[in-house]
Amino acid sequence: MNAPSGSQTSTDTSDTAAALLSLAVATAREAGELIVSMRARGVEVAATKSSLSDVVTEADRACERLVRERLLGNRPDDAFIGEESDGDEAAPRPAPSGVTWIVDPIDGTVNYLYGLPDYAVSIAAALDGETVAGVVLSPGRDLEYTATRGGGGFRNGTPLAQRASPALAQALVATGFGYDARLRARQGRSVARMLPYVRDIRRMGSCALDLCAVAEGLVDAYVEEGPHIWDHAAAGLVAREAGAILEVSGQENGNDLLVCAPEPGFAEFSTLVDTCGFRADARD
Ligand code: IPD
Repeated sequence: MNAPSGSQTSTDTSDTAAALLSLAVATAREAGELIVSMRARGVEVAATKSSLSDVVTEADRACERLVRERLLGNRPDDAFIGEESDGDEAAPRPAPSGVTWIVDPIDGTVNYLYGLPDYAVSIAAALDGETVAGVVLSPGRDLEYTATRGGGGFRNGTPLAQRASPALAQALVATGFGYDARLRARQGRSVARMLPYVRDIRRMGSCALDLCAVAEGLVDAYVEEGPHIWDHAAAGLVAREAGAILEVSGQENGNDLLVCAPEPGFAEFSTLVDTCGFRADARD
């Protein structure tokens, strides 16, 4: 989602982005209330997906239905990609409006299942292939991260400022693990190689919140192979608007590698990512 749009002026685009963000925020808040109330009634695994550890709950499904209905009910000419839908991540149906919604109804489903607070509703809007608005709402932490392209990133309405990066030895690095056992084993080896060079590692369980944590300065960097576009579309915009670089590189094995850090320390962190073997090679 990064092909630039040439069809609108920048004023048109920022007006559109603001309107899309407003709909996204209203929808995310309603979705947040739904999943909190469903959590309070008790949650169970409804199905597994790519592996036994990759779970979906009825709340994921109900939340995505609600989000889809609200977004497409308001804007029927838009396209929709959702984690729990059968939409094709790579090639969504072309939208007459040029807008595609990219939605993870619950990012951090395993946390949600266990009653841990780090889960989030993530809604992004892409215009002609470029993400222009996004919200990541964490009901468990009472946090709402928002951004529009060129309009800055915000946490609960307060602007997120660009930060300096600490030296690598003082960097707190967030990461995550995929659901495939072989991928996890390789990710574990890479994390073990990185540990001696950084302050510490955190695995919090939501890619979207990890990226917002980089934006906010709760961690200094993030690396993970395997997240999907619905995990990072909204949070990636928040991070970029807060002055971070988010690099999403497609790899030969089909997985994306995500590397994110504030711009001043990005190159050094990215080199460490390479050295520690986070990038898949042809054998993976
Ligand atoms: C997962 C979370 C997790 C990350 C995984 C994602 P889900 O998303 O973002 O932190 O490590 O790669 O798949 O399954 O909870 O929506």
